[in-house]
Amino acid sequence: MKNFKRTLITSALPYANGPVHIGHLAGVYVPADIYARYLRLKGEEVAFIGGSDEHGVPITLKAKKEGITPQDVVDKYHGMIKDSFEKFGISFDVYSRTSAKVHHETASEIFKTLYDKGAFIEQTSEQFYDQEAKQFLADRYITGTCPRCNYEKAYGDQCESCGSTLNATDLIDPKSVLSGNKPLMKQTKHWFLPLDKYEPWLREWILESHKEWKPNVYGQCKSWIDGGLNPRAVTRDLDWGIPVPVEGSEGKVLYVWFDAPIGYISATKEWTPDWEKWWKDPETKLVHFIGKDNIVFHCIIFPTVLKAEGSYILPENVPANEFLNLEGDKISTSRNWAVWLHEYLIDFPGKEDVLKYTLTANAPETKDNDFTWKDFQTRNNSELVAIFGNFVNRALVLTDKYYNGKVPQRGELTEYDQQTLSEITNLKIEVEKSIDTYHFREALKNAMDMARLGNKYLADMEPWKVIKTDPQRVETIMNTALQITANLTIVFDPFLPFTAAKLRKFMNMKQLDWKELGRTDLITAGHTINTPELLFEKIEDEAIEAQVNKLLETKKVNELETANVSKAKDNIEYEDFAKLDIRIGTVIAAEKVAKTKKLLKLTIDTGIDTRTVVSGIAEYFEPEKIIGQQVSILVNLAPKVLKGIESQGMILMGENADGSLIFISPSTAIRNGSEVR
Ligand code: MF3
Ligand code: ZN
Repeated sequence: MKNFKRTLITSALPYANGPVHIGHLAGVYVPADIYARYLRLKGEEVAFIGGSDEHGVPITLKAKKEGITPQDVVDKYHGMIKDSFEKFGISFDVYSRTSAKVHHETASEIFKTLYDKGAFIEQTSEQFYDQEAKQFLADRYITGTCPRCNYEKAYGDQCESCGSTLNATDLIDPKSVLSGNKPLMKQTKHWFLPLDKYEPWLREWILESHKEWKPNVYGQCKSWIDGGLNPRAVTRDLDWGIPVPVEGSEGKVLYVWFDAPIGYISATKEWTPDWEKWWKDPETKLVHFIGKDNIVFHCIIFPTVLKAEGSYILPENVPANEFLNLEGDKISTSRNWAVWLHEYLIDFPGKEDVLKYTLTANAPETKDNDFTWKDFQTRNNSELVAIFGNFVNRALVLTDKYYNGKVPQRGELTEYDQQTLSEITNLKIEVEKSIDTYHFREALKNAMDMARLGNKYLADMEPWKVIKTDPQRVETIMNTALQITANLTIVFDPFLPFTAAKLRKFMNMKQLDWKELGRTDLITAGHTINTPELLFEKIEDEAIEAQVNKLLETKKVNELETANVSKAKDNIEYEDFAKLDIRIGTVIAAEKVAKTKKLLKLTIDTGIDTRTVVSGIAEYFEPEKIIGQQVSILVNLAPKVLKGIESQGMILMGENADGSLIFISPSTAIRNGSEVR
């Protein structure tokens, strides 16, 4: 392993088009923060960089929707995001933003350098253009009918109904979001980064030299590289962003994914005039914390930009996480399916660490994971309260009770005492190994094992019983328990900093360096601890139910919004489908079924025979108007008697959004009896 002098930790810049949620914390900011705090405790030189990503199309769309400027949008959310991070104790050395002047300058400069070096290629292509708004249209500015599923409000890049990825030119009947008009095609020039030229280098740098990267990261890189890299446009026709700093580029800005990662550099400049040692000295270890949707940008595109520029270091590791889901569904800002940090802070004041604990214990490090409120409650009640809290409470309360809060003398240690104390050092080594390799959930488990160790020690030693027979022995037991407690203030400091601080206060201790961890004489006899308080409190069912109900409400709202479009059913085999015998038939007679509102009695020529079908369509069709109508009929449905009439089959119908029905009939007349398959 290479020896580095300092570590530069970056965390993905969240889009300032909404508040931050638990997915952000779990995927990026909690692991990055643990890493930063751990290295600082070890006395290493660390920079922990963050900021808001304030450019891009979604922000302009949000502004349009709310009738405010893009700057208003980012001001609002940048403020909220920064505040949430502060309250959760994410220990950035600097939290900047990409609308900052220093960032505009830095990004322009880097673009200009690459441009002057001839690192870009220029290409002209046809893009949608809105003549009325006098503007080229980004994919999200075009809506139309999805060619796959006919959903009428598909976007130029994606259909949210069927999930297909689209090209704007695929849309049937495209419309500009700005004017509602049909957009024209117009020529436009853009600059491209020829990634294909860097393929051999990327192959060597990642696939050969960074085999130690997490399998999910390495695998994604490999599949991008093996799939063949293409030139990527680094500019866009848009009026929000950093103007392209070359002549003949009016109305064009840098692509948000070109400027955003440069934000790490700008933020460092904002933080220190000595920024170059962080970005240009090969003895700096650069680590990017991101979510999996950001892998290609941080492992392939941004490094290529830095490489093309020539004077910057490249990331040493990119420990990207998978996604965190919420109660079984994908977290979504637009569908409000999230636990928002600013709301959590109101609903669970003082419990920042409980959320961090849950998110780390269940971090989506190797696969997508699910956050459930039930699990949150269990983690709190059965782990933090029942193990960590219980041990600490016993140690403090007994010390208070037996010795008036004064740490007792340690007598001779038994073998079991010694074993227990030496286990602290073993666990320290485990925690270090885990953090050094970015296995934060394992590291937290190792730290919890130290609390478990203490809990088990007291349960086994039963000082509350021994006090009656051998009070001197209890002094040693309690001293040992307090040494473990003192060690807990160190080992939990990177993970649960508020809790560690609280525990230090209980113990009347200062913050200690990581190197002290493992010492069995952290606290000396005679030292006075403070009156004990609870480290964690139980979370009751009511609080959990309230959160679950809030989510159920959201679900209801969302369901109404996507009314009548249900999710796809589970897959079936062709054999299952083949059991259905569907034919084309013609209605030859129709009448209302007496004393019902919904039912029609139909006589159908199925091509096989003439039969009677009772169908619940009377609210939508006049009987005499459907004579001669061709329909699809399921002919092998078991007959059933309805209102005294035997119905021999089922007419297939489609349903409109308002619930009205239509026949599923052939697009041109076809012989009766034709099979539908
Ligand atoms: N805003 C992006 C996202 O939320 C992340 C940008 S990371 C940076 O997915 F490197 F570009 F800053
Ligand atoms: Zn679709």
